[in-house]
Amino acid sequence: MSASVRDVAKRAGVSVGTVSNVLNHPEKVSAATVKRVKTAIRDLGFVRNDAARQLRAGKSRSIGLVVLDLANPFFTDLGRGVEARADLAGLTVLVGNSAEDAQRERRYLEQFEQQRLQGILLTPRGEAVERLVDLREQGIAVVLVDREAGESGFSSVAVDDEAGGVLAAKHLLEIGRRRIAYVAGPTAIRQVSDRLRGLNSATANSGASVEVIEVPALSLACGRRAGDEIAARPERERPDAIFAANDLLAIGLLQGLMSGHVAVPEDIAIIGYDDIEFASAAVIPLSSIRQPAYAMGESAFDLLIDEANALSRGEVPVPRRVVFEPELVVRNSTRP
Ligand code: RIB
Repeated sequence: MSASVRDVAKRAGVSVGTVSNVLNHPEKVSAATVKRVKTAIRDLGFVRNDAARQLRAGKSRSIGLVVLDLANPFFTDLGRGVEARADLAGLTVLVGNSAEDAQRERRYLEQFEQQRLQGILLTPRGEAVERLVDLREQGIAVVLVDREAGESGFSSVAVDDEAGGVLAAKHLLEIGRRRIAYVAGPTAIRQVSDRLRGLNSATANSGASVEVIEVPALSLACGRRAGDEIAARPERERPDAIFAANDLLAIGLLQGLMSGHVAVPEDIAIIGYDDIEFASAAVIPLSSIRQPAYAMGESAFDLLIDEANALSRGEVPVPRRVVFEPELVVRNSTRP
């Protein structure tokens, strides 16, 4: 994989924004810094993505990004990856938060449609495929992020969430847990149901039981309430391990269990998903399934620009699927 703008920034000891200024507005940067950045670019063999420069004229130099939950650091990291690429290409990113609500998602898509953006990156809450087809027919590129596109005909960037569920389940089985609870946000969200599918396939014929506890949202508050509920159960009715559909739920669960005097991981082990930076900083450092959010954002932007260029040439974009592999990160919340 070629060097990224983040590699150049790290090598030169500057921010990603400074690298972008050196490339787009060198007059804003000191000569010494320009020299340092250009040396890093040369040494790393960094090649900027100039595809965005051929974008259709007469459209805004902006793209849209609609995420499921702006309060979730996973999407912050994903957005930073998108912005790093967009800065380099001289484009701005308009961010919308669907807050896991299909109505809000539709309103953002309607707004972005009117603003004649070059393209839209979307983490879908609902099944808005027909609206996405309309957008593309108007020449607006669309790429699904954090979601495999299936047969929708759209390009997508995602992590193999079913494999992520398998990783979490196998880890809990390896530490001897057999009563596993999956604390899930709305299972209508594809990521949530894919992780559950992985959990179920990995625990089949293992002798372990799986209890699904569906909560209204993938949030700290919902995790906390689920933790309180589990801690209030008689001990024999509690799980001995929890797989949380994301880290925010897992951190909330940790709070609820600990306030109910449940020992983690001795009584109940907990593993989350995303590996946001607060996972390692939790009062009991959280095991998690890591998603490369920043790299997903960079990859999604590149796919979007390629699609926007194809549309501006009057071509029908060929759908491309980029699938990243999840990674198990073991910390104290599952390490007795
Ligand atoms: O938004 C819900 C979850 O889906 C996030 O935590 C992240 O895991 C995404 O894939």
